Amino acid sequence: MIQINKALINILLNHKSIRKFKDKKIDKEILDIIIECGQKAPTSNNLQAYTIIHVQDNMKKEKLAQISGDQKWVVEAPVVLLFCADLYRIKNYSNIESLSLFGSPELYTVAVIDTALAAEKSLIAAQSLGLGGVIVGGIRNDMEKVHNMFNLPNLVAPLFLLCLGYPDDDPGLKPRLPKEVIYKVDNYDTEKDTQLIEEYNKIMEDYYRERSSIKAKSNWSQKCRQALTKQPRQDVGHFLRSIGFLT
Ligand SMILES: Cc1cc2nc3c(=O)[nH]c(=O)nc-3n(C[C@H](O)[C@H](O)[C@H](O)COP(=O)(O)O)c2cc1C
Repeated sequence: MIQINKALINILLNHKSIRKFKDKKIDKEILDIIIECGQKAPTSNNLQAYTIIHVQDNMKKEKLAQISGDQKWVVEAPVVLLFCADLYRIKNYSNIESLSLFGSPELYTVAVIDTALAAEKSLIAAQSLGLGGVIVGGIRNDMEKVHNMFNLPNLVAPLFLLCLGYPDDDPGLKPRLPKEVIYKVDNYDTEKDTQLIEEYNKIMEDYYRERSSIKAKSNWSQKCRQALTKQPRQDVGHFLRSIGFLT
């Protein structure tokens, strides 16, 4: 008999981004648990290459919302956490002189993965405590501005926000790609992908038709195209080089 932790599996399977929050504060004890769980995320070589900044200043929240393209949940969420990939601390406390090591794509990748895992673990912890939230990568519309707002040093890159609060909305589950498309055995076998993605596009067309106020026809492929052409964020690379994250 497999032992299943049903409560945890239910939390994971019922994930949905929450963008509307009750006017209810999150107690410090609750937030402490969330951060502590985030810290338990796996981390490459125990580097722990991230820093989380709790944004409490309302002016800063408003600025972040604006940079993100007027995403109002950034202002309304009771807790807003800024997740930064951080190699600065490691460089300072490991006494490594070689600057070029810190500009490597490998170390950049390590820091981004560490940061993302800590954020996802924090979000799961929050969901298990009755909270909901959304990740906001929109702040990368202007990474330099965010960097300056929080006096971040070189080698610290602000990647995204995690907005948390008590849900005041049930947006429903967003369907994912069929498992066979993202899960392969031994080979990158794409034989069935075209048909499966066509079917998924139909599911997403219905999903967007039901939810969109303008009832415009859209599907997964179109949304990917829109997302990638609307916000290519060409200056991210330039900014990461300017703070020593990439050379
Ligand atoms: C790296 C990243 C950046 C994201 N940025 C935003 C964002 O700027 N604004 C937003 O409303 N949602 C953002 N999201 C949430 C996604 O839109 C959401 O997870 C996705 O559409 C799937 O929906 P679900 O989380 O409800 O299942 C982001 C998610 C990730 C992982």
